Amino acid sequence: MTPDNPEKPPLRLGPLAIAPPILAAPLAGFSNFAFRQILRNLGGVGLPATEMLSARGFLFLEDRKQAQPERLWGVKDEPRPLAVQIWDNDPDKLAEVGRRIAQEFRASVVDLNFGCPARDVAQKAESGAYLLGDPQRVGDLVARVVTACRPTPVTAKIRLGLARDAVNAVDVAQAVEGAGGAAVTVHGRTADQLYRGRADWDAIARIKPHLKKMPLIGNGDLKTSDDVLQAFRRYGVDGVMIGRAALRRPWLFREAAAALAGQPIPPEPTAEEQQELLREHFRLIVAQFGPEKGTVMMRALAAPYATGRPGVRRFRAAVARIATPEDFDRVLKEEYPGSLVVGR
Ligand SMILES: Cc1cc2nc3c(=O)[nH]c(=O)nc-3n(C[C@H](O)[C@H](O)[C@H](O)COP(=O)(O)O)c2cc1C
Repeated sequence: MTPDNPEKPPLRLGPLAIAPPILAAPLAGFSNFAFRQILRNLGGVGLPATEMLSARGFLFLEDRKQAQPERLWGVKDEPRPLAVQIWDNDPDKLAEVGRRIAQEFRASVVDLNFGCPARDVAQKAESGAYLLGDPQRVGDLVARVVTACRPTPVTAKIRLGLARDAVNAVDVAQAVEGAGGAAVTVHGRTADQLYRGRADWDAIARIKPHLKKMPLIGNGDLKTSDDVLQAFRRYGVDGVMIGRAALRRPWLFREAAAALAGQPIPPEPTAEEQQELLREHFRLIVAQFGPEKGTVMMRALAAPYATGRPGVRRFRAAVARIATPEDFDRVLKEEYPGSLVVGR
């Protein structure tokens, strides 16, 4: 690795090599089967992730002999590698569901959520980011899941702490490492920030010297391939995770992968190619959810696309009203920014 050819070595998660070391973030409501395939088809993503899954919810459905959780749809058959994220605060439930996800669902990685600040997860269920308040407990949970999932690697996703005056990511990351975690991903915000303010990458970088050998994955506000390059160069992380920017520009992964490999950045897809991508996204969504629910879901999934293109507001207003697959097709044809051929 030289400054002119900054190609990164693969990221090692236990026995698994992740190359390029660019992970897709779990995004509840978005990172379903369809989105993961879109990312894979575009290239550059080292490890896609499912939406977070409640361990309790998994066992509850099973007790009632109902179908498996919707969030595991497609997981058994889709390409690997794939991380499945679970959350809970009960060691037995987390270990049991982790084991099943590793063995029956053959996840490449089981990721534990210690970063979600949403009311239902953090306050009501005392899980997700709530657990950051007790690093020892995080370590105990990770240790149980590591044992249950072996040899599948178990990772943890955390935030900097509960609040600005309670930043303890070093303690939590060390607890994860001590418990046998394969990596820790740190979102550079505190739980009480939710998504406000800016991710603090200096605080992420400060964790690195405190880890013996467990990789550190940085997350928060990466929007461009240059942001990704800087994350590696300036902040010394072993991997990066991209969330919201991938909803707007799912081709960001291939751009970042090229930048990391010292290769030219591939051109942005044309408006026509972006429309085709949205059609494919919709086909995959309909395959899982059917045309009615799929159309409603597509309102939120399509809206982030076209960010920054002139006319995006019109497109968003139109896509927010689609009620049928035909509506979506028409909106794509008539309203997708940059797609109108005027005066020819
Ligand atoms: C709509 C939405 C859903 C999210 N769902 C999850 C989730 O299921 N599990 C999780 O660990 N983080 C979740 N996150 C947090 C992201 O994974 C990520 O940590 C955060 O968005 C910061 O990264 P970014 O700036 O690249 O988006 C979610 C974030 C958003 C905006």
